[in-house]
Amino acid sequence: MTNTKIIKRKHTTRLIGLICAGIIGLTAASQAAQTSKAAQPYTLDNIRNYIVGIDEPVELEDGTKTTAINFDNAATTPALQPVVDEVTEKLKMYGAIGRSVSQKASYSTDVCSEVRGKVLDFVNADKDKYTCIYVNNTTDGLNKLASALVTDKSDIILTTRMEHHSNDLPWRERCQVIYAEVDELGRVRYDELEEKLKTNKVKYVSVTAASNVTGYVTDVHRIAAMAHQYGAMIIVDGAQIVAHRAFSMAGETPEEDIDFFVFSAHKMYSPFGGGAVVGRTDVLKDHMPQMYGGGTIDIVSDYKQVYTTAPGKYEPGSPNYPGIVGLGKAIDILREIGFDKIQEHEQALNRKLIDGLLDLGMKVYGDTQDISDRVGVVTFNDEHTNSALLAGKLSRMGGVATRRGAFCSHPYVWRLLGVSDDTVMTYEGCAEPKTPGMIRVSFGIYNTEEEVDRFLEILPKAIEEVKQDLAKNPLDAPEEY
Ligand SMILES: Cc1ncc(COP(=O)(O)O)c(C=O)c1O
Repeated sequence: MTNTKIIKRKHTTRLIGLICAGIIGLTAASQAAQTSKAAQPYTLDNIRNYIVGIDEPVELEDGTKTTAINFDNAATTPALQPVVDEVTEKLKMYGAIGRSVSQKASYSTDVCSEVRGKVLDFVNADKDKYTCIYVNNTTDGLNKLASALVTDKSDIILTTRMEHHSNDLPWRERCQVIYAEVDELGRVRYDELEEKLKTNKVKYVSVTAASNVTGYVTDVHRIAAMAHQYGAMIIVDGAQIVAHRAFSMAGETPEEDIDFFVFSAHKMYSPFGGGAVVGRTDVLKDHMPQMYGGGTIDIVSDYKQVYTTAPGKYEPGSPNYPGIVGLGKAIDILREIGFDKIQEHEQALNRKLIDGLLDLGMKVYGDTQDISDRVGVVTFNDEHTNSALLAGKLSRMGGVATRRGAFCSHPYVWRLLGVSDDTVMTYEGCAEPKTPGMIRVSFGIYNTEEEVDRFLEILPKAIEEVKQDLAKNPLDAPEEY
């Protein structure tokens, strides 16, 4: 090879090297940009950028398209992009959980145990005292607890008239249920709860941490102290608290500690299913699960089987890996944003909405003055307009997603609406819009005051249009809200 050829080749090699270095440099730079974007702290100010589908247009009845306003977060929350990303990332190492020997199997198994720890930290649960059982959702968790903890039809469960059906029917179907009433504004009557504890041999008190109808936050630690004083344990339905306020299993004194807590991941921006029961290991070890099968046993011979302890005993079959991964990431993000900030934000949205609704002459349920014990849930009616038709109109005319009806909390909603128990059953078999109900707005971390303003602008127009529609096509039944 001649010198010139060598020089030329050296030159070309250097050039290629430089180009490659450039490309690598650029890639590294753009990766860094992406990483820093992903790594920036999640805050209330930037969280809208991470809500999947936030700008996805929806079609209105006039054929135009608009960006939807999602005020239905108490039913379910949209997905957070980092939650989706985490699931996608961790699926690369997905393998059988808790049953196989391979790199991917042990990776997935480790992920599931890490998230268990994260869940326990999330609700400030002492790991020596509590375990975390993965469930499908709150309904599943409460049914699992009811099935395990109720040992006799004569067991007495004390709950309240504020509950979601998922914290009422699982008990009704298995044992004796007694209820503490709510007051005229819809808050739980603690005096009555204590009286019922005094006068009945209550085994478990099961209460919601926050109402899905009025947003009231229950003082569950106060109830825990009462329950323990009278020899009962406390179960808390956490479905409506986990995305709104910090929750602690530990009270200020050991008497105030919570015994069991249940919640769903889909109400905290992780739509892959799943949720958890956090419960006392010492109690759970002595009970039996609702379902039997793989994963629940220690050893099985031809005619004998020995069950393992919690959590395994209560987790039959293969777990929901994406649900568990998503839950873990959602916990990280909510904690990073901070529950103090979330609470403050929701209070501001609640105040603005309630004042606006009152100014428009709406009937707003619950306490509209002191809203400090309410998460971002507001229910209302225009007392002259059918609420089912109105909710439909809000969506078709303005792209606003609300929920209408009695929100799987019939006894509570009937009380707030003033529908007597004698008349309730006359609605059996009735479909919307002929059933009584209310409209619910429920906020998420990404909702804004501008959205509330837009909603308050759309509402009177929607009411007017429903009135016009009804004048043309009246309902063939007495008009209900
Ligand atoms: C207070 C309360 N409890 C329980 C549930 C049931 O939750 P899931 O549908 O996730 O089982 C809900 C759902 O809206 C709720 O609001």
